Amino acid sequence: DIQGFVFDLDGVITDTARLHSQAWRHIAEQVGTPWSQKLQDSLKGISRMESLELILQAGNREHDFTDAQKQELATAKNKEYLRLVEQLTPADILPGVSDFLRDLYNHEYRMAIASASKNAPTVLEHLGIARYFHNVVDPSTLKHGKPDPEIFTKAAALINLDPQVCIGVEDAAAGVAGINAAGETSIGIGDPQVLSAADINFTSTEQLSLANIRHAMRQPVA
Ligand code: BG6
Ligand code: MG
Repeated sequence: DIQGFVFDLDGVITDTARLHSQAWRHIAEQVGTPWSQKLQDSLKGISRMESLELILQAGNREHDFTDAQKQELATAKNKEYLRLVEQLTPADILPGVSDFLRDLYNHEYRMAIASASKNAPTVLEHLGIARYFHNVVDPSTLKHGKPDPEIFTKAAALINLDPQVCIGVEDAAAGVAGINAAGETSIGIGDPQVLSAADINFTSTEQLSLANIRHAMRQPVA
């Protein structure tokens, strides 16, 4: 039986992806990388430094900056991102998520955040939902990013559960792959074609409910 839930943050609980994009876009302009939807999508779930590398590569500029300069660019991006995060309020929680979190909490499920973002605790505070989570994985303690299962394995361990009794919720294909590799049940939120590896697909956060999950888990795998 399911005893815990492990949540991605960006794109599952709140739409911070657009804030990350806004901040990265300015860095891309600064280094002369053309911005595209494809580049923007490729940054989902990817760590800060890896994101910068992808942006530099897209403009063929990966060899033009020293490590110190890269640090400066990453710091500048984060400064702007945090300025945008300051404006987040509980109204920025995605539809259905508040009710779902409250329901899980009242049913005494254990809950953790498995986000690649070092800013996750700050975002949770601004959204007013930090108290629901028993733990937030610190991504600076990880050796490998998503799609590696490490962050999901660690999240389960932090809430004292075996991965087998945990459900992971993700909006990125790399995240779903990580949840599956960790041996947890995966819920993919978004385009079912992109997230076809997920055990359960919901097209929107509005579908997140214990009743819908129970129903989906009773269905035989196609
Ligand atoms: C992930 C986002 O959750 O966190 C990425 O999807 C982001 O876009 C990554 O780059 C790292 O975030 P931060 O806040 O540590 O720069
Ligand atoms: Mg995400």
